Amino acid sequence: MAAGRWCVCVAFLSVVAAVDLDDCILVGGEKQSSLDKAVLAKLAPLKGKSFETRIEEDSATYVYTFSVCSHVLTNKSTSVNEGLIQTKITKGNPDVNVTIGRINETHIINGTDWILLSYRGGDKYDSHCGSEPRKAMIMISCNKNTLADGFMAIKEERSKSNECFYLFEMDSSVACIPEDAHLSTGSILLIVFAVLVAVYLLVGFLYYRFVVGAKGMEQFPNITFWKEFGNLVADGCDLVCRSRPRSADTAYRGVGDDQLGEEPEERDDHLLPM
Ligand SMILES: *[C@@H]1O[C@H](CO)[C@@H](O)[C@H](O)[C@H]1NC(C)=O
Ligand SMILES: *[C@@H]1O[C@H](CO)[C@@H](O)[C@H](O)[C@H]1NC(C)=O
Ligand SMILES: *[C@@H]1O[C@H](CO)[C@@H](O)[C@H](O)[C@H]1NC(C)=O
Ligand SMILES: *[C@@H]1O[C@H](CO)[C@@H](O)[C@H](O)[C@H]1NC(C)=O
Repeated sequence: MAAGRWCVCVAFLSVVAAVDLDDCILVGGEKQSSLDKAVLAKLAPLKGKSFETRIEEDSATYVYTFSVCSHVLTNKSTSVNEGLIQTKITKGNPDVNVTIGRINETHIINGTDWILLSYRGGDKYDSHCGSEPRKAMIMISCNKNTLADGFMAIKEERSKSNECFYLFEMDSSVACIPEDAHLSTGSILLIVFAVLVAVYLLVGFLYYRFVVGAKGMEQFPNITFWKEFGNLVADGCDLVCRSRPRSADTAYRGVGDDQLGEEPEERDDHLLPM
């Protein structure tokens, strides 16, 4: 019974996997570069996210919608791999969508702190650029503080006779070099210090318990010193932090006065004029 369910589940999952064609397909034919795939894999956290930017120009507004390796238009039965579209909004006219680039013609390159994603195969220019297909380039720059932000249109180059493009930019942490796994010097020092403290406490505890035969609090190593140290810190803090003088009977008495059993009257004797 359980095995049967498991089989059904696996079959269902593989159907889902097979149906999910909604992804970037790299250009370059049969021989795909494994490096390109590795760079594409970096975009995984952004997959399916959409970004929008608008530009006001004369009487029209252009809205650019960019989807990372997924369709911009949600109606899959009519969508044709649009990865970045331009919607031209003019008063009194229906909106016009132009596909700038498609996810089934993706090209990707990277550097130390950037990834350049291109979607090619967009709708053809009417007369510009030798009527070649439109092309979108999205420059993703490293920004550790955001998963994705600041999607902006930079320029549309269409005055050439070919190789025209729409250029966009965006900030994202996916374009950053992965944090080194090795520890910084500071962390190593902290760990060494913590280990030393632990060893000190453990060895001291065992020594006082079994060699000296101490009981209760006395089992802690150098308990007297630490108590005095605590007093010292408290006194120091008292001296530095207190804004009003303390009342006479609780005046500052210094470290270890109690242990020395000094009489309160004696403590200022040396300050008296001879
Ligand atoms: C998707 O587009 C097709 C064809 O135009 C249409 O028949 C269908 O109703 C649309 N689906 C949705 C959810 O809009
Ligand atoms: C990408 O998809 C579009 C629309 O479905 C299609 O016309 C084009 O031929 C496809 N490109 C490639 C390289 O498969
Ligand atoms: C144009 O694109 C927008 C998404 O940006 C979509 O909502 C709208 O339905 C599209 N219009 C047409 C006519 O395809
Ligand atoms: C580009 O990304 C790949 C895959 O993550 C990485 O191995 C390579 O070092 C990156 N290139 C540069 C110049 O950082």
